[in-house]
Amino acid sequence: MILEHYDKPWDFELLDTGNGFRLEKWGEVILARPDPQIIWQKSLPEAEWGKAWAIFKPGSSGEKGRWGIKHKLPEPWTVQFQNVRFLLKLSPFKHTGLFAEQAAQWKFMIERLKDSKIEKLKILNLFAYTGGATMVLAKHGCQVTHVDASKPAITWANENHKLNNLPPNSVRWILDDAVKFVKREIKRGAKYDGIIMDPPAFGHSPSGKVWKFNEDLPSLLADCVRLLANDARFLIVNGYATNSSALALNNLLEDAMRGKPGKMEFGELCLQQKNSRTISTGIFARWHN
Ligand SMILES: C[S@@+](CC[C@H](N)C(=O)[O-])C[C@H]1O[C@@H](n2cnc3c(N)ncnc32)[C@H](O)[C@@H]1O
Repeated sequence: MILEHYDKPWDFELLDTGNGFRLEKWGEVILARPDPQIIWQKSLPEAEWGKAWAIFKPGSSGEKGRWGIKHKLPEPWTVQFQNVRFLLKLSPFKHTGLFAEQAAQWKFMIERLKDSKIEKLKILNLFAYTGGATMVLAKHGCQVTHVDASKPAITWANENHKLNNLPPNSVRWILDDAVKFVKREIKRGAKYDGIIMDPPAFGHSPSGKVWKFNEDLPSLLADCVRLLANDARFLIVNGYATNSSALALNNLLEDAMRGKPGKMEFGELCLQQKNSRTISTGIFARWHN
């Protein structure tokens, strides 16, 4: 079981956590966002928390949450991870358009790309949202297929693509249901050198078909393994806010990868704050050859 986190400095910093909130620095912007699992005390004095430019106040009894703005934000603003830039905005659902803990998976994938004899590795990114992984992979010369069911997410990912001056054909944009798309790719005999997926606990396809993590992931994973090229490099499954465990994800991936040589890892996707307190943000299991 790995507590996986990205340990190099970049434009994201977890300054503190406590009393149900995270204090985060995204480039120059400091935000306070709720996180229900944070049941311990704050480490930094209130004066430091007082420096937040905006605080997301969760809604109560069905009421939507909203941002309390204390200091005018440059919207959008950008942050940088290695040589890749991302556009951030305050979304109505406390999100910023990027999951900082994914930096650990980006690093993992970059390492798997090394010493590849294939000039343009083909990578499939399912539930790809604003394209965090897509931009990192395209910047490292991959041809990425970016699949998401949400038009606003694909539009935002396109803005990230332009921001990084990436070649137009470096990404194939697919607005579709991940399950349906994968089944079509199997029929087409398509093969990928790597697959990353980050399904939500609960979601909808463009046609409204419901996605449920525990119910729908086993068959999607089995289908995805059929899309792996013989010398594929990796398959990564992330999970957020599911009532599943990293161990369960690992058992599922072991079944799906049975008979395929390679190494399996699983654990919690974490963020580490300055005073080295580590918080879990999700779970993952991954295979690599
Ligand atoms: C948690 S976000 C993914 C975050 C992303 N991987 C990242 O690190 O930037 C989940 C995404 O799944 C998409 N989604 C939900 N149900 C879907 C479905 N059935 N098919 C494809 N995408 C779906 C949502 O639109 C959302 O963008």
